[in-house]
Amino acid sequence: MTESRSIKTIGLLTSGGDAPGMNPCIRAVVRAGLARGLQVIGVEDGFEGLINGRFHPMGPRDVGGILQRGGTILRTARCKDFIDQKYQREAIRSINNAAIDGLVVIGGDGSMHGAQQLVDRGIAVVGVPASIDNDIFGTDMCIGVDTALNTIVDAIDKLRDTASSHNRAFLVETMGRESGYLAMQAGIVTGAELVLVPEVETDVEQVGQVMEAAYRRGKSHCIVVVAEGARPPISELAERINSMEMGFSTRVTILGHIQRGGKPSAFDRLLASRFGTKAVEYLVEGKTGVMTGLNGSAVEAVPFSQVFSKRKSLPMDQYKMAKTLAQ
Ligand code: F6P
Repeated sequence: MTESRSIKTIGLLTSGGDAPGMNPCIRAVVRAGLARGLQVIGVEDGFEGLINGRFHPMGPRDVGGILQRGGTILRTARCKDFIDQKYQREAIRSINNAAIDGLVVIGGDGSMHGAQQLVDRGIAVVGVPASIDNDIFGTDMCIGVDTALNTIVDAIDKLRDTASSHNRAFLVETMGRESGYLAMQAGIVTGAELVLVPEVETDVEQVGQVMEAAYRRGKSHCIVVVAEGARPPISELAERINSMEMGFSTRVTILGHIQRGGKPSAFDRLLASRFGTKAVEYLVEGKTGVMTGLNGSAVEAVPFSQVFSKRKSLPMDQYKMAKTLAQ
């Protein structure tokens, strides 16, 4: 955490995969900034827009009516170029040209690393964690997780209706390339028979046995929630399960990007509003190189060094609970 000069103009951008709640966060940054007498500049298309100087000033009306909208009005991008020092230099040049004194970066883990690059080059930056994966260390929750989870729950509840009617099993893939958080939480709250996550090795024979046992116990359906990053991938898993004799016939549903869209839940709107407001407060106070983090019910400034110090692990007690409750 380092001290920076006084702040008159702030920039904000959204970066990486979009997450429902980014818009309420943009609204909060803009309005909290204006309320403090700051000028607020929106950066389009994440770090790409920062490199190319795609900036526009934002007033209170520019963020009217976006609280309930999914996606991000500033748009976002996965900007691979930003790891290159040449492009980082261009970004700094654009920031200086626009007289931006401090930047709010709303995004996932990769975006926080991009933010750190700017801090290393003397730019004041506060990060706001937004990723449906909830894989960022230093915050209990990221913006977007709750909405994505509700979308998954809605989908699985519907799949269970058709599964029970046909006495079928469903393998349902949730997002999460490296994190099983969404899959595990969804498994618990939908009463799935099994959850497969990247953090725990999958024994396919055992999966078949669990499904068969569910059939023998007289269950009318069987839901297996599979995180995107679980191994083997869902297509191979389905093939191997289908070759087993275990009672249910099996169908596969990949929920995909539907999980990233939709209007943000009340929880995400509130979290995004709190994070956005705090991010402005931190910049004004001269805090830089920090991320807003939810610790219990409090929002705290978490230094990037701490954010990058560990991988966020799956709460194994909840993973075990999911198994216990799936009798
Ligand atoms: O990081 C969020 C996430 O939705 C992951 O769960 C998923 O693996 C990835 O993004 C998909 O990325 P893209 O939208 O670039 O295909």
